[in-house]
Amino acid sequence: MTQPTWSAVDQYFNGHLSPSDPALDATLAASTAGGLPEIQVAANQGKLLCLLARIHGARKILEIGTLGGYSTIWLARGMTEGLAAGGQAGAQAGAQAGAQAEKQAGGRIITLEYEPKHAEVAKANIARAGFGGVVDVRVGRAIETLPDVEREGLGPFDLIFIDADKPSNPEYFAWALKLSRVGSLIVVDNVVRDGEVVDATSGDPRVRGVRKMTEVIAKEKRVSATVIQTVGAKGYDGFLVALVVG
Ligand code: SAH
Ligand code: DHB
Ligand code: MG
Repeated sequence: MTQPTWSAVDQYFNGHLSPSDPALDATLAASTAGGLPEIQVAANQGKLLCLLARIHGARKILEIGTLGGYSTIWLARGMTEGLAAGGQAGAQAGAQAGAQAEKQAGGRIITLEYEPKHAEVAKANIARAGFGGVVDVRVGRAIETLPDVEREGLGPFDLIFIDADKPSNPEYFAWALKLSRVGSLIVVDNVVRDGEVVDATSGDPRVRGVRKMTEVIAKEKRVSATVIQTVGAKGYDGFLVALVVG
């Protein structure tokens, strides 16, 4: 029971519960056409981000690692749903809901991306999905743009999604905490990576980044966290969810 089964199960449930729609399809097509790597979250993971944003009533979201804006669009839908129809809405409806949400939401997503090309594709994708007025894509190394986010007083954020260069996860988590309030939710993607995370002797800076972050979180009294391992179309991986409690 490995990859073909995991992909088939994702396909089954996503077909029913996180079906693709023209805005998401166009996002993936434009990302592929632009030569972006196909490493965005899977549809069910995007839907989870959408639901978390909605459960939390998030109005201020920070994302570190935009790529083509696929996860950003899911987050934006979750932030604006309830104010206007979103998630499972069809193409036309989705775009209209997005346009309406721009006027109504009062919410904002700041998303940080290093590669200008990724940011350019993301901006077009986000605008097409109807969230151009809700999402602010900032180009540069996150470690250099995060101080601007702080200086401009854009936080505290209700939800922070960390999904950029993995070696920097300890720094990103520290920034996430700094830009949080009690009740903020921090989600970190790709913390399992085929189980490589358990190799304490790993020289892979991505593995080391995740392990160091985990050790910091373990000692950090201000957060309560857990990790869920996942299998699916994107292979074997997992995500960390942390709630800021103090
Ligand atoms: N969240 C996206 C996937 C992000 S992939 C989704 O699920 O749809 C990781 C992204 O982080 C890539 O676009 C990569 O260019 C970007 N990245 C890498 N290093 C970065 C850095 N130092 N600062 C900001 N972004 C970075
Ligand atoms: C990679 C990055 C991601 O954010 C992801 O979800 C999968 C893979 C990568 O850098 O290989
Ligand atoms: Mg990821």
